[in-house]
Amino acid sequence: MPWPQDELRRITEQDDLHVAPFREDGATYGTPTWIWCVAVEGELYVRAYNGRESRWYQAAMQQKAGRITAAGLTREVTFEPVEGQLNELIDDAYREKYRDSRYLIPMLGARARTATVKITPRRTHTGSDGGPGMAQGSVSYDFTGAVALVTGAASGMGLATARAFAQAGACVTLADVDGDTARKAAAQLKEEGHQALAIACDVADELAVRDMVTETVAAFGRLDVAFNNAGVQSPATDTADSQSSEYDRVTSINLRGVWACMKHELAQMRAQDRGAIVNCSSLGGLVGVPGRGVYHAAKHGVLGFTKSAALEYAATGVRINAVCPGIIDTPMAAGMKATETEAMDTLMQEVPARRLGSSAEIANAVLWLCSSGSSYVIGHALAVDGGYTVR
Ligand SMILES: NC(=O)c1ccc[n+]([C@@H]2O[C@H](COP(=O)([O-])OP(=O)(O)OC[C@H]3O[C@@H](n4cnc5c(N)ncnc54)[C@H](O)[C@@H]3O)[C@@H](O)[C@H]2O)c1
Repeated sequence: MPWPQDELRRITEQDDLHVAPFREDGATYGTPTWIWCVAVEGELYVRAYNGRESRWYQAAMQQKAGRITAAGLTREVTFEPVEGQLNELIDDAYREKYRDSRYLIPMLGARARTATVKITPRRTHTGSDGGPGMAQGSVSYDFTGAVALVTGAASGMGLATARAFAQAGACVTLADVDGDTARKAAAQLKEEGHQALAIACDVADELAVRDMVTETVAAFGRLDVAFNNAGVQSPATDTADSQSSEYDRVTSINLRGVWACMKHELAQMRAQDRGAIVNCSSLGGLVGVPGRGVYHAAKHGVLGFTKSAALEYAATGVRINAVCPGIIDTPMAAGMKATETEAMDTLMQEVPARRLGSSAEIANAVLWLCSSGSSYVIGHALAVDGGYTVR
């Protein structure tokens, strides 16, 4: 994708370009490095001051993609090495732009010249507020400037989604009943250069949920997207043997928790006339499984709230949808595998994709549902389950 020329001009004039190629995992970014840049024939070029020894250069050549921040913009980009004649034009551009710099000579020297890189924007999906993006696998979204709230963000899909929103440029609140772990996750994101806030919140407590939304808005000024993901599993039990205490525990988190989150998020989004909510249901919201009545009832209920609230706001700028994960490789699924090995093995044999899903695959779906790419998708229950529910 070519650079919009006004962006290219802003980036080269401002001269505050930071590059952050992906780390080895291909999903998280390395530490941003400040670097000089020039434009030649509508393209953006940089040179590694320490030549091919530079760590960012090596990561850029290995991963071929990452992100830049410059002139107040955050862009997902690709990196390509530059060799040959073109370097002479790039030399001229450096001479012209940095003629008064004492670093001009090293920028033209062999060490930096052999580490010349072309930076090109990657195609991104725009988020609900006209900002947005995330990068997981081959897809990327741009949520720059958006404010995201994720519950159950200390672990599993919540953590992956909070990270994806942050990497896409959003300010993110990580809310979890496990406040210590949420704080550590937020600190890690901040260390990587993102804006993150941790809040200890039990979603079963409506007042705590109200305060979570209030604190988010106080910290970041608004609320654009929310992933109501916090949830707990329940051991398989025949309905005739099930306990009312377990029913109350599971529904207070998995169902009433989603209701409380939507209630307070919507009050804010209604005032803004803008926003996107994704509720976490499950394959358990779409089908029945013996022994799972309480959990499945709560997850079916999440879809009832999702559809009804989505209709209330369908003609406004606020969209509400749900994601229905299949069996996803998280601590929750690992816990089930440890305690209910046989039942999980049977369930796995019924997954047409013949593998567990990953948290990143759920994050991809959530970011899409929050992005402008899904602008006509309202009240939908999106199964991300390796084909389980279409058998
Ligand atoms: N893993 C799966 O296979 C799977 C499949 C379908 C749906 N789900 C749903 O996905 C969501 C996330 O699950 P996961 O697999 O990432 O689980 P996980 O156990 O890895 O993470 C859940 C997070 O929610 C938090 N949490 C629990 N109770 C809370 C409460 N009362 N208030 C706030 N936070 C609370 C936990 O502390 C934890 O950090 C849940 O709603 C779950 O029901 C999971």
